Amino acid sequence: KKVVLAYSGGLDTSIIIPWLKERGYEVHCLAGDVGQGAEELVGLEEKAAATGAASCKVADLREAFVTEMIWPALKALSIYEGRYLLGTSLARPILARAQMEYAKEVGATVVAHGCTGKGNDQVRFELGYRAFDPSVEVIAPWRTWDIVSREDAIDYANRAGIPITATKEKIYSRDRNLWHISHEGGAIEHVTEFPPDDAWTWTTDPKKAPDVAQNVKVGFEAGVPVSVDGVALGPVALVETLNEYGAKHGVGRVDIVENRLVGMKSRGLYETPGGTILFEGLRTLRSLTVERDTLDLAERLAPEYARTVYNGLWFHPKREALDALFSSVMATCSGEVTVELYKGRATALAASSKHSLYRSDLASFTMGAGYEPKDSEGFVRLFGLPGTVAASVKRANA
Ligand code: ARG
Ligand code: SIN
Repeated sequence: KKVVLAYSGGLDTSIIIPWLKERGYEVHCLAGDVGQGAEELVGLEEKAAATGAASCKVADLREAFVTEMIWPALKALSIYEGRYLLGTSLARPILARAQMEYAKEVGATVVAHGCTGKGNDQVRFELGYRAFDPSVEVIAPWRTWDIVSREDAIDYANRAGIPITATKEKIYSRDRNLWHISHEGGAIEHVTEFPPDDAWTWTTDPKKAPDVAQNVKVGFEAGVPVSVDGVALGPVALVETLNEYGAKHGVGRVDIVENRLVGMKSRGLYETPGGTILFEGLRTLRSLTVERDTLDLAERLAPEYARTVYNGLWFHPKREALDALFSSVMATCSGEVTVELYKGRATALAASSKHSLYRSDLASFTMGAGYEPKDSEGFVRLFGLPGTVAASVKRANA
């Protein structure tokens, strides 16, 4: 029987290969390139073969990841629990989709993943699979076998005779892609302690970042980033460029205790350098070009969008409906924003757009042009009427 495994080459997914083979499966591996970098991807096919896989495909999902997942989440300016830019939550659905496509290709009706039974990722993978085939059979070894620690896993790998590079010393659980890197586990779990310095792997410590600020000008077209410093860039190159600038200046570090869908609180450290620049820039552009009540609606729905994506409901009509709304809201968000990068901060300094609703003649303290201050007298009275009545009744009863 054939099974397609979501494979990364790391210890956690490597030992699943011999385990499935012992149970009579022919194991086909699917690794998605979502921008995790050469260290994780080079030699992956050979490694899978040496571990006993019947095949291994590395699918280049980078551009699709940016245009189909990251851009919509950016348009929504959605942030989970006020801090997390959803880097892992956005990547899981596209991996699940690629896995189901590969299952079709090799003729497998079973898929497997290396997520634990305590996290969010199992939900995202499995809801992803079922969106393409509700009858697919799922194997999640980390939920069922008796391997419970890194030490057990290494012992099992050694017994199975498969190549691994992991050491027994406790290191962090990390997930890297084009948008972010996440760090969990190990010393990060000591929530009363400062985040361990050795957890961060990408961005410069803001205290050690350059003393000279860098200004970067980002161009947007209907809420989608299209250029950096006047140079048009494709989606992958654009994110990579901003990642490089942001990382250099220590931009995009987040340390949060978040609520997992499965119930527990968990501490995560995230580095999202380019994403943080884009959020800052687009938020500022949006404040110029989106009408007040429409902006208010978008802001109220942004956490809803974040929760939907975080909870694994990517292939869900609610997510699609929200995307339609945010695309509509962002239709006028075209223009340029200059963002200053300096010691861990990204700060928008100036923005311009041909759709700008900012009217200096209306805003100015100098009188004139299409606004009659006398109109305000009645407006203020009527606007306050319900509160004025309530206050007087309260006074009468006091
Ligand atoms: N807590 C984050 C999330 O739920 C990151 C998960 C990282 N996953 C991992 N397998 N290391 O999106
Ligand atoms: C896991 O439990 O497999 C990783 C963390 C998560 O999914 O939230």
